[in-house]
Amino acid sequence: MKDNSMTLDPRHDSAIKHVTGQAEYADDIPEPIGTLHACLGLSTRAHARVVAMDLAAVRAAPGVVGVLTEEDIPGENDVSPTGLKDEPIFAGPLVQFWGQPMFAVVAETRDAARRAAKLADITYEDLPHVLDAAEARAAQYPYVTPPLKLERGDVAPALEAAPHRLSGQMRVGGQDHMYLEGHIAFAIPGEDEDVIVHSSTQHPSEAQHMVAKVLGVNSNAVTVNVRRMGGGFGGKETQMNLFCAVAAMAAKKWHRAVKIRPDRDDDMSATGKRHDFVIDYDVGFDADGKVHAVAGDFAARCGFSSDLSGPVTDRALFHADNAYFYPNVRLRSHPMKTNTVSNTAFRGFGGPQGVIAAERIMEEIAYALGKDTLEVRRANFYGTEDRNVTPYHQTVEDNIMPRIVDELEASAAYQTRRKAILAHNAKGGITRKGIALTPVKFGISFTATWYNQAGSLVHIYNDGSIALNHGGTEMGQGLNTKVAQIAAEAFGVDFARVKITKTTTEKVPNTSATAASSGSDLNGMAALDGCEQIKARLVEFAAEKWQAKPDTIRFANNHVHIGAESVPFSDFIKQAYMARIQLSAAGFYKTPKIHWDRASGKGRPFYYYAYGAACSEVTIDTLTGEYIVERTDILHDVGRSLNAQLDIGQIEGAFIQGMGWLTTEELWWDNEGQLRTHAPSTYKIPLASDRPRIFNVTLPDWSENRENTIKRSKAVGEPPFMLGISVFEALSMAVASVDDYKTCPRLDAPATPECVLMAVERLRKARADVS
Ligand code: MTE
Ligand code: MOS
Repeated sequence: MKDNSMTLDPRHDSAIKHVTGQAEYADDIPEPIGTLHACLGLSTRAHARVVAMDLAAVRAAPGVVGVLTEEDIPGENDVSPTGLKDEPIFAGPLVQFWGQPMFAVVAETRDAARRAAKLADITYEDLPHVLDAAEARAAQYPYVTPPLKLERGDVAPALEAAPHRLSGQMRVGGQDHMYLEGHIAFAIPGEDEDVIVHSSTQHPSEAQHMVAKVLGVNSNAVTVNVRRMGGGFGGKETQMNLFCAVAAMAAKKWHRAVKIRPDRDDDMSATGKRHDFVIDYDVGFDADGKVHAVAGDFAARCGFSSDLSGPVTDRALFHADNAYFYPNVRLRSHPMKTNTVSNTAFRGFGGPQGVIAAERIMEEIAYALGKDTLEVRRANFYGTEDRNVTPYHQTVEDNIMPRIVDELEASAAYQTRRKAILAHNAKGGITRKGIALTPVKFGISFTATWYNQAGSLVHIYNDGSIALNHGGTEMGQGLNTKVAQIAAEAFGVDFARVKITKTTTEKVPNTSATAASSGSDLNGMAALDGCEQIKARLVEFAAEKWQAKPDTIRFANNHVHIGAESVPFSDFIKQAYMARIQLSAAGFYKTPKIHWDRASGKGRPFYYYAYGAACSEVTIDTLTGEYIVERTDILHDVGRSLNAQLDIGQIEGAFIQGMGWLTTEELWWDNEGQLRTHAPSTYKIPLASDRPRIFNVTLPDWSENRENTIKRSKAVGEPPFMLGISVFEALSMAVASVDDYKTCPRLDAPATPECVLMAVERLRKARADVS
């Protein structure tokens, strides 16, 4: 196939396979004869005691081989990722959310298993249930995990003394991951205690350890393999553990291959989502719009178990300042237990819920003072010396926010367009317009410090081809492409010579989840370390054989250049092999400089920050609430880009996903606690036609990471998600125009067309009441 992107960075190594359907996903692996299929039986109560569970009809259904319940678990009935032991595989005597797995049925076909699962006869005794975070706080429901407080300065007196003060509340909705490929685990039993699980998990090592724990065997009996995911977005960081455990248990019990692949409705009902939050804020500020003090309370719907709710709600607080300096600040998380599915990681990992609070606060201040929102944002940016410490006492050393925003303001023609929009709205027509320019500053590193490590395994075969493994997983983001580029460059060979195979726990042990956007930072460095070890041996070999000085030996253009001589790479490798040089190495990396003390709320949890800004313009129809995004301009910092095409792809995708979170994607539970939006028919993600009419994405060509990251790049996976906030705040401005921008409209997320219409109606009514 002709490659017309030759002059650019290599394209995604699976791009053609993705679009032609040749890329192999877990469900495409040929099934051995006799493969069985499992299906989960889900609860139909939000909170209840199980009085009786009669599975006779399930067992008797056609094609059924058997069922698995709590009693069939050889090891521990727990898949909680943090060791709090609060997440059973099967509910047992207490049901804690609607859709909770109760049992699994195993049958000859998936269809037979699905039909049989519906035949369970379960008698429940209902218990009172609580569904959302506000309700949970009112009912004094417990925290699922210990809360966090970040504090600096003296908040109460600063609030009192500030010339202006306001308080408010915002509700911000959750989000379903809507990966194209759902959850799946395919287990193949081996001899003794061995089992191999092919899955679509972002965290193969955790799945391995979890399967071992559930089977009651050592981790060395379990292998987890991941070739690629059809999207993960955080939804496959911990949620796959249960599926892997069920498939492995069934495979060992019946000694046959077993696959479990829930349909979309079960996937959406039984697995966790983004946490929705209720945020209360109290802010003191002055006439310039400068913040003096902020107090914020962040209550999250965590669901029935802790899962990752601790680190997710922590990260919300870490980002509640976004790009702004708060001289006095107190932020508290309230990770509320609720009788809903246990919420989990989702792109940004709580960060977006923190950032949007900061952006709402800036909007509120601007409306209260009758100022342009950008002016207020700018007045509060982190600065130098006395204005550069975060609420968690990390100093912001690399602040490029002012420059990013200045450049975007100019390239997007923010000021002239804003004037035109004000003039359009002043005419008082049915359609109203809004524009907003919002920044994002996002901290890079896992806040669980020990997660910031990675390994690699590099082999050069004696024909000169290179096989590279690392602990990261490929979910579409292009991690394998970036890591292969790093290895190709290290050896001075073509990209095509490097092959990255599936991620497997057999090759690199104890890996971290591919998450927190740190995949290329960590695995890129670990791969480079492996390559450098082999290179050092090759240089030593060449120096001796050719009697050359080591510093005259270079790897470039598919050759090894030794003084005046050039040997083709493959020939050189053959000679090194014949001379018995070890052509394999295990690489390792750990992030330097970071530390974090949760008890005192102080440290340097982040190695560095990624920065970006977006400017969006919208038009709303004030009679229907419908809207379109007319134009979005983005300037997003990736340091020195490892691969500009992949980075721009990540920025575009993240922006659209962030916009979906805040506009059309609405999760809705009924009073009984059943999630009613459990399929694409009722849950609306953005369509291609919803993208901005004009969409300009630019990487600053001057940025480089001041920390020593892989080739001075910056992580890109999550930060641009929060650029979608520009659409939300532009909608807010369009709504506010109905009342001549007198008030900052109460707009909760998602701002669906109904929400926009209701916000418009509220302002119209307020206006009518006054006149
Ligand atoms: N891009 C695609 N295409 N698919 C995904 O599932 N996940 C996002 C982001 N970009 C995702 C994606 C999330 S949540 C994270 S944390 C990062 O990719 C993880 O990969 P990285 O660390 O290699 O950037
Ligand atoms: Mo991403 S939410 O850290 O998987």
